[in-house]
Amino acid sequence: MTGTALGMPSVRRAAPVGAPSDGPLLDTFGRAATDLRVSLTDRCNLRCTYCMPAEGLEWLPGDDLLSADELSRLLTIAVTRLGITNVRFTGGEPLLSRNLEGAIAAATSLRPRPQTAVTTNGIGLVRRAAALKAAGLDRVNVSLDTVNPEHFARITRRDRLRDVIAGLAAAAEAGLSPVKVNAVLDPVTGLDDAVALLRFCLDHGYQLRIIEQMPLDAGHQWQRDKTIDADLILNTLRREFDLVPDPAPRGSAPAQLWRVDGGVGTVGVIASVSDAFCGACDRTRLTADGQVRSCLFSREETDLRLLMRRGADDDAVEAAWRAAMWAKPAGHGINEPGFLQPDRPMSAIGG
Ligand code: 5AD
Ligand code: SF4
Repeated sequence: MTGTALGMPSVRRAAPVGAPSDGPLLDTFGRAATDLRVSLTDRCNLRCTYCMPAEGLEWLPGDDLLSADELSRLLTIAVTRLGITNVRFTGGEPLLSRNLEGAIAAATSLRPRPQTAVTTNGIGLVRRAAALKAAGLDRVNVSLDTVNPEHFARITRRDRLRDVIAGLAAAAEAGLSPVKVNAVLDPVTGLDDAVALLRFCLDHGYQLRIIEQMPLDAGHQWQRDKTIDADLILNTLRREFDLVPDPAPRGSAPAQLWRVDGGVGTVGVIASVSDAFCGACDRTRLTADGQVRSCLFSREETDLRLLMRRGADDDAVEAAWRAAMWAKPAGHGINEPGFLQPDRPMSAIGG
């Protein structure tokens, strides 16, 4: 394999010296990325207040999006050359991409076959769950911050709670397992919402994950003291439930898991801000317009779409991806004085 993409005008940052030309997808801190997050679209049919303004955002132009063939080529490079073992499709809202089933099928046709997952807001899952399963999807995470219809409508600016709840049931019915629920808590109603959500998830056999809100909103309005941290979440849940630490090893999983009321149900709390897990990060990210990001909070991107469209061969694309990851920062630095939020919001990066 050729060693470097240095000199290719499409790579905005020069490759730092030393990115290995084969083996695991390493960074300079010794972390190996095995988990690829692919955003399929920046569009969404909800308008969660912590993510998007009511009027939506300026969407990426269609020509900028990776074609199905381009994405399939990058998935092949990721799995067969870079050691990616898990692929998660995200958005925006990935169910708005007509290529979702195709992308899953492309990933699961590769060998070694990667595990596949989708992070979705659940709207439309009722109609798609069986087709997703048939395409090879293993698991699904449905974003749901509350089971209270008024709170849901206020947080998402859409009255769609029923669709999400039906989508969750359809996912379980289709055999996507486990079904996980991701929640970001509202600063006002979030603690009550967390208790009700956990009851709902225990009743239905879904695994709840509560995530601290991170500074990834389009309006750059995030303030740490307006968010609910992991300690407060746990103390609140403990008043209603008996929680004991789950004995299973945590590995690179960001959630600290708790067994609830001595049963089979678990809840996870992801302290992305108050107790960052960057040291164990195993992720690499691809945006819908074909940019590699080594971190959610990267301020730099590597343009694989332009490389491919200029005729780069697989060796050059692989080298550019490796160089991007080699430059991965140690951590997000949210709690450091000079922290700067990335320009792209969560909806254009992928969760
Ligand atoms: N902080 C934490 N999680 C977020 N999500 C969206 N914005 C943020 C944020 N600022 C979550 C969504 C969804 C996943 C894609 O990321 O709720 O579960
Ligand atoms: Fe859509 Fe997810 Fe953003 Fe909500 S958080 S508006 S569901 S992309």
